[in-house]
Amino acid sequence: MKLAVVGGGSTYTPELADGFARLRDALPVTELVLVDPVADRLELVGALARRIFARQGHPGRVSWTGDLDAAVDGADAVLLQLRVGGQAARDKDETWPLECGCVGQETTGAGGLAKALRTVPVVLGIAERIRRRNPGAWIVDFTNPVGIVTRALLTAGHRAVGLCNVAIGFQRKFARLLGVAPEEVSLDHVGLNHLTWERAVLVGGEDVLPRLLAEHGDAVAADLRMPRGLLDRLGAVPSYYLRYFYQHDEVVRELKGRPSRAAEVAEMEKRLLALYADPALDEKPELLARRGGAFYSEAAVALTSSLLTGAGDVQVVNTFNSGTFPFLPDDAVIEVPAAVDARGAHPLPARPLEPLYAGLVAHVTAYEQLALEAALKGGRDRVFEALLAHPLVGRIAQADQLTDSLIAHNREHLAWA
Ligand code: G6P
Ligand code: MN
Repeated sequence: MKLAVVGGGSTYTPELADGFARLRDALPVTELVLVDPVADRLELVGALARRIFARQGHPGRVSWTGDLDAAVDGADAVLLQLRVGGQAARDKDETWPLECGCVGQETTGAGGLAKALRTVPVVLGIAERIRRRNPGAWIVDFTNPVGIVTRALLTAGHRAVGLCNVAIGFQRKFARLLGVAPEEVSLDHVGLNHLTWERAVLVGGEDVLPRLLAEHGDAVAADLRMPRGLLDRLGAVPSYYLRYFYQHDEVVRELKGRPSRAAEVAEMEKRLLALYADPALDEKPELLARRGGAFYSEAAVALTSSLLTGAGDVQVVNTFNSGTFPFLPDDAVIEVPAAVDARGAHPLPARPLEPLYAGLVAHVTAYEQLALEAALKGGRDRVFEALLAHPLVGRIAQADQLTDSLIAHNREHLAWA
């Protein structure tokens, strides 16, 4: 089985290589090709990925190249994990929205829109090249903002599924707290990418969420940096991205008072690359655990494996709504448990979404639709409309100012600006 990873020069890739090496029974990779335009970085990361395979006695071949077409030729699946403009562009996304009192975040709010506008055309261009070269390949998209990027891919008819590590992170955490194996825990995870709630935690068919909150509510809340009382009142566990909505002004104050996450990550990446340059290093370093991507390799292995073998098991992924939540368009992309087989991801029937969640989900879905239109067609008016539709913006003065800042800071990445 051949896999290609676009954005393979990411400092995250050793996490992926480690997952592929450990989980070779689930996903027997014979050839892993890393593709990236940044050659020196790719060389460092590629060589480490090769050493990780070798140390774990993995027989698969690891190679790297700048040539996308060659890399995807004959690949069974292609993982997309790219970041247009790198941490420098992310740093801006996290900074300029703060100037008008709005959250500065890489996937949420105006910063997330900027990222979508930079990213969607690039991802669609790559997907088109994959399709031309290799129409049967599956695309597994980790590229943020995953909801909008997946919607773009699926709307253009690509064989794609969007993936995020939030659900697998909760599954692993809850399993640890409950003292059971992760495979025994399944989640009633509902919403949109980076806008989700765990409504139930099932072990052996029983919902143990009430017990989990009673026994470990403080720890779960502390980890999310949300009030324990909120979890009790909802009887559900929101993802930490809901902080940007539920505690917006507090988060803005916090963000204004410290360096951006992009600056922190850029610093970490320098140190990581220095470690990767050591030919004696043949495992993922401890430092990588300080990035947000915990367990993403395991989610990638599980999803890719089921797409290629047609297992039909249930995984939390991003795919078309297709009637799952009747108040959303069929072609909205939702993040829910879905059966994954060789034809793709099929959402399981879901209980109706409670008004407390449905309002926000509908609102952000409308924003995502307008964001995608702005990304595809460009133009100041479309950017403004997407921002006016966003529940965290929604006011003319802020939407106008944010539109100007977004365009000014992203001109080099926007063909139409
Ligand atoms: C989580 C999210 C990802 C995001 C990452 C950021 O894993 O699910 O979508 O890319 O956090 O982590 P970072 O270390 O870059 O801040
Ligand atoms: Mn994510």
